[in-house]
Amino acid sequence: MADPGFQARVAAITELTGDIRGLALERVNGAPLPAFTPGAHIDLHLSAGLVRQYSLCNGPGDLAQYHVAVKREPKSRGGSDGVHGLQPGATLKVTGPRNHFPLAADASEHLLLAGGIGVTPLLSMARHLRANGKPFRLEYFARAPQYAAFAGELEGADWRGHVALRYGMEPPPLRAHLEALLSATLPSTHVYICGPAPFMKLAIEIAARSRPREAVHYEYFAADPDAQAGPRTGFLVRCARSGRDLEVAEGERIVDVLVRNGIRVEVMCEQGVCGTCLTGVLGGRPDHRDAFLTDEERMAGDRMLVCCSRSHDAVLVLDL
Ligand code: FES
Repeated sequence: MADPGFQARVAAITELTGDIRGLALERVNGAPLPAFTPGAHIDLHLSAGLVRQYSLCNGPGDLAQYHVAVKREPKSRGGSDGVHGLQPGATLKVTGPRNHFPLAADASEHLLLAGGIGVTPLLSMARHLRANGKPFRLEYFARAPQYAAFAGELEGADWRGHVALRYGMEPPPLRAHLEALLSATLPSTHVYICGPAPFMKLAIEIAARSRPREAVHYEYFAADPDAQAGPRTGFLVRCARSGRDLEVAEGERIVDVLVRNGIRVEVMCEQGVCGTCLTGVLGGRPDHRDAFLTDEERMAGDRMLVCCSRSHDAVLVLDL
């Protein structure tokens, strides 16, 4: 059943850096907010058809307000501009929270690697781990101090011994630092990664060299441009349940063809990040272009994100 959500009010806005603003949201009716686990995100319904996901930065037991931090993107597709246009007192629908990026319950130690605005879910994790006395370290990479949201808090005495802020994200020194850091980290330590796509790819590659794949956790917050590149040739989608064959022309998206033909698919991010449009595949090989599925899930080939992925075969059979 679809999440009915609730109405929230913008209780406060904080300018965290020149282009990142923090939002405190509370329920319009004053009731406590739904519980969440660290790494969770909420959906902000910014206007008709414009829904965007933002990670909660909250610590444990903090259900009076949700806190999110949103960077204004120069090439905003509506979400960051929408958030940066909100004023205190504005109301909007919120759904969730949901968590695709949880802490591993059985991990003995946690290493959190944040790049830029990717710090938001990791900050929530760090707050929970610190409150529960669990061993962890947060390494937070930003281009320069003026771009690092929450730097003032994280440089404070409360976080000493747990947090390192690193300025500069040029690939060669970043690679050298991550290699040294991860080689000095126990292979049993679980690693959590969130940040821009190049940072994530590098950190995932290096982390996965020295530990089992299940101990490397990550969440993209924007489409990976490399994953979405490639030919966009046409193919046929066969909808197994309705028995309909639909042509997806060169350059068209599967989801647009489905919707145009009255086949409902729920979407939110429309860029392969949130997992909302996950659809079963019954035949053909999907050409995955999302940033949501794991490598194992891609290999299995039995599910795909129809907002961005395509087909390697002339016919793709979907469980629709
Ligand atoms: Fe978010 Fe497709 S709508 S992954």
